[in-house]
Amino acid sequence: MSKTGVKIFAPASVANLACGYDILGLALEKPGDDIIAHFTDTKGLKITKITGSKKQLPKEVEKNTAGFAALKMLEHLGESERGIALEIHKKMPFGSGLGSSAASAVGGVMAINELLGRPLTKREMLPFAVLGEQVADGSYHADNVAPSLLGGIIFIRDNATLDVHRIPNPKGLQIVCVYPHIKILTKDARDILSDQTTLKKTITQTGNLGGLIVGMYNADLDLISRSLNDVIIEPQRAKLIPGFYDVKDAAMNQGAMGCSISGAGPTIFAICPNTLIAENAAAAMQSAFHNNKIKSDIFISPINQNGSYLY
Ligand code: HSE
Repeated sequence: MSKTGVKIFAPASVANLACGYDILGLALEKPGDDIIAHFTDTKGLKITKITGSKKQLPKEVEKNTAGFAALKMLEHLGESERGIALEIHKKMPFGSGLGSSAASAVGGVMAINELLGRPLTKREMLPFAVLGEQVADGSYHADNVAPSLLGGIIFIRDNATLDVHRIPNPKGLQIVCVYPHIKILTKDARDILSDQTTLKKTITQTGNLGGLIVGMYNADLDLISRSLNDVIIEPQRAKLIPGFYDVKDAAMNQGAMGCSISGAGPTIFAICPNTLIAENAAAAMQSAFHNNKIKSDIFISPINQNGSYLY
């Protein structure tokens, strides 16, 4: 890239991690989006190019996740008059549950920040990226944006104040994501959820959430595995994904530590202790989808420790 242009990689992410609806997420090393920004002579921010998306993404800055995130950050910096062109190159499936809109929002703020000589830290950019993602699904939660930006596994104690915390992870974990070619809108997958649950399920879920975090800190794979269970959200969303339980069984039978829906779906993720189990689990999961007459794509990645970066 020339001195007047920057190119950013913003990775996909897996939100919820079974027991942490809206409050846990991790970053993948791949896939991810590329966002390019450069200065122009015309006033204001413009989106000049979008590639790689079958869905027609809006080029209007205010309606685009990357554009809106970038715009809000430029306003904060008092730079909204600056002539800047953004290019968005989608390199991951959209509407897949892999945090595609979050990655674009992260890429938008990162690109602006790099172009302007890094006025903000990543933590300071986080609210603007979350505002960008909010354009896509209407709610303010950072479980895709925070890991995509910061890397690693992120626990969000409180979304409203973005009280986010990095959780360490044991070495060698591999994340399998199998994306079935079916459509689920995040908004629909959120709207079907009941706002009621039982005390019993709340106790089980919070026990698993605590167990998962302690397991990650202590590199206790058995504890992580016992904790990767969702008794509240997964049972309500499983019906949106034909063959969900076949796919989950296939992953677990190959030695996955846990398997659930990635974000709002339809991608199903499995956390595996090593590459061999990950490859076997991925093949078995794809075959289970195939038996349900659904085509799918496989992504296998370690946990991305660095989040979004400048090329
Ligand atoms: N936590 C969110 C959900 C992620 O499951 O709906 C998708 O935005």
